[in-house]
Amino acid sequence: ALEGPAAKPLAGRRAIVTAGPTAEPIDPVRVLTNRSSGKQGFAIAAALAELGADVTLVAGPVALATPLGVKRVDVETAREMLAACEAALPADICVCVAAVSDWRPETEAGSKMKKGADGPPALTLVENPDILATLSNGFPRPKLVVGFAAETDNVEAYAQAKLAKKGCDWIVANDVSITGTMGGDDNAVSIVTPQGIERWERTAKSDVARKLATRMAEELS
Ligand code: CTP
Ligand code: CA
Repeated sequence: ALEGPAAKPLAGRRAIVTAGPTAEPIDPVRVLTNRSSGKQGFAIAAALAELGADVTLVAGPVALATPLGVKRVDVETAREMLAACEAALPADICVCVAAVSDWRPETEAGSKMKKGADGPPALTLVENPDILATLSNGFPRPKLVVGFAAETDNVEAYAQAKLAKKGCDWIVANDVSITGTMGGDDNAVSIVTPQGIERWERTAKSDVARKLATRMAEELS
């Protein structure tokens, strides 16, 4: 392994990583959420910290230990996640790995909803803020903004469209139709940039994280 300054190419750099799902309240006991485990995002936060970055990990509800040397901010909703990211600015790097709930219930019932003669309640949903797009187009903009795209089909085409739509620098695309990717320990990703697409072999999420962190360090050097 490298030692000395070469081992810490991100020393003095600040990074924000979002990870995990968000949970959007329906009433005091119920939430709208998704199956994100947070593993890939936590691994990226750990890898950036290993390269010397000052990392703020903004985490939705997950059952994972905080990586060594990482500052963790726990949130529940998409709006809390955005506020925590904005509070962590300025940053050199921002990696949005969280599976942010696209929608939230328009209103949160003040007390637990009860079954009754009226039958099941209708849920009216409204769109959540897009954290990746907000940080990509906001101020101060991190030098390198990276998004993820979990898709079940047309993975690279959708990722290219997202790169353009969100205004980020890279999209890391992964095919979640592959059994075991959601919640599993391995990931097969493609790195989509305005310069083209690079496909990486299926490997451990911790490996993907280290390779990505190294690439980010090169990009900023
Ligand atoms: N993202 C975000 N805030 C949101 C939605 C998504 O920051 N409200 C980020 C994710 O963290 C990810 C990227 O945007 O880095 C792509 O998320 P994805 O769900 O694939 O894209 P969407 O734009 O939500 O499109 P769709 O779910 O319809 O495919
Ligand atoms: Ca989405």
